[in-house]
Amino acid sequence: MRSLLDRGRTLKTNTRTNKREPEDDNAMAARRKLIAGNWKMNGLKADGLDLASDLAGRLTGAGTVAFDMLVCPPFPLLFPVGDAISGSPLALGAQDCHAKTSGAHTGDVSPAMLTDAGCRYVILGHSERRADHAESDAQVAHKAAAAHKAGLIAIICVGETEAQRDAGQANSVVASQLKGSIPEGATAANTVIAYEPVWAIGTGKTATPDDVKAMHAHIRAELAGKTADPDAVRVLYGGSVKPGNAAELMAVENVDGALVGGAALKADDFWAIATSCR
Ligand code: PGA
Repeated sequence: MRSLLDRGRTLKTNTRTNKREPEDDNAMAARRKLIAGNWKMNGLKADGLDLASDLAGRLTGAGTVAFDMLVCPPFPLLFPVGDAISGSPLALGAQDCHAKTSGAHTGDVSPAMLTDAGCRYVILGHSERRADHAESDAQVAHKAAAAHKAGLIAIICVGETEAQRDAGQANSVVASQLKGSIPEGATAANTVIAYEPVWAIGTGKTATPDDVKAMHAHIRAELAGKTADPDAVRVLYGGSVKPGNAAELMAVENVDGALVGGAALKADDFWAIATSCR
């Protein structure tokens, strides 16, 4: 059944479930906010199903809302969670993918496998992957190009460390990450940027609204020439977003949503963050 949210939007057939689902045409509207939950390496099947079903139920029941909502569970939960939320307005995403379609890459997951599980988004170049797996900008760009080819929306993460910010390098670091990580062919329909200052992730520290405003304006300016339609690309903020600071952060100019870690693991908190969008 179509929800109020879907009215007037194009539907496409999900090739796996054969169900009609809303096309991702929101980015083309006036930068509709995206509230994305990055579950990281948390939760077993029962937890993931409870959380996703709870959110899908709230979203369906809410009717018209001012945001798109996305959950990005760990790989083993993509299929069960995808099945549980199929047909609801809650979107599914993954936390990484390989740049190749298939082959001898032990432990990796291809973009086609993600779309097969019902994913519409994939987070790429998160600072934890850049740090834990030494992912370079070039690798992120290859992965994003592969994700685009598979029909996925790439959420490309950038952000400076505390030492880089203290040294006055935040803008140049982020500019260089954007330059190296955004592939040819990026548009507002296939790419979202997430600004996540590394020092704010999981630490309880958040950037001030003024710092966020300045960095998001910088990112929007840097997108010119790197994406087809820079003004339409959604730029999310991430790093200790919580119900208590979400309204203030989401009201900042050029902030088009949030990438949420810890607070995305509790339905009440994640829902409160989303509904703080105006
Ligand atoms: P956090 O994580 O909300 O727990 O700070 C954000 C992220 O890493 O995406």
